Amino acid sequence: MAQPIIAPSVLAADFANLEREVRMVNESDADWIHIDIMDGVFVPNLSFGLPVTSAIKKHASKPLDVHLMIVHPERYLNAFKQAGASTITVHYEACEHLHRTIQEIKALGCQAGVAINPHTHVSLLEDIIQDIDLVCVMAVNPGFGGQKFIERTYEKIQALKTLIDSRNSSALIEIDGGVNLDNAAALRKAGADVLVAGNFVFSAANPKAVITQLKNI
Ligand code: DX5
Ligand code: ZN
Repeated sequence: MAQPIIAPSVLAADFANLEREVRMVNESDADWIHIDIMDGVFVPNLSFGLPVTSAIKKHASKPLDVHLMIVHPERYLNAFKQAGASTITVHYEACEHLHRTIQEIKALGCQAGVAINPHTHVSLLEDIIQDIDLVCVMAVNPGFGGQKFIERTYEKIQALKTLIDSRNSSALIEIDGGVNLDNAAALRKAGADVLVAGNFVFSAANPKAVITQLKNI
């Protein structure tokens, strides 16, 4: 099996030393940098926004994987593109006109992703799966880092893999929330292509070594 794409989430980084944290990711075996944007409305928490994303981009040598946990994400697509996003992921639950929003992300030249909350059934993606580059399966309820992984995620990954294959989609399966070395191999086996990890990486004594371990599961 090929190696997974590893996307450390800077939500768990030391914000007072962001440049140092981004350099660590640059020097590591990570592939992308995961950027969690929270608005205090779609999720019950605030994180950071455009200026911080631009600041990260200034130092990052790896693509920014921007996860918008905000209502009306269509209002901010161009701004996040300008801030340096390579991938823009919007929530299924936050988009009234998801197809249009996906087309807008692609027209900007970004990869388009759709995230689904733990309660959202994979089958709801049937009519959009051929149009998207990535599905982000939330393995926790979005809003906070450091939460416990929801075990039902494995079944969702398998169902999603079946849907992707049946529609000849090239969408990648990304898992976000509670990823660590206890579940990474099983997630990969179930069909995950991209592993997001926040606390497991940034709270480690040696974050680079942890990233290498996740890459080599
Ligand atoms: C949760 C965020 C995640 C979070 C993951 O709302 O979307 O990306 O940072 O953090 P961990 O890996 O600590 O669960
Ligand atoms: Zn995220």
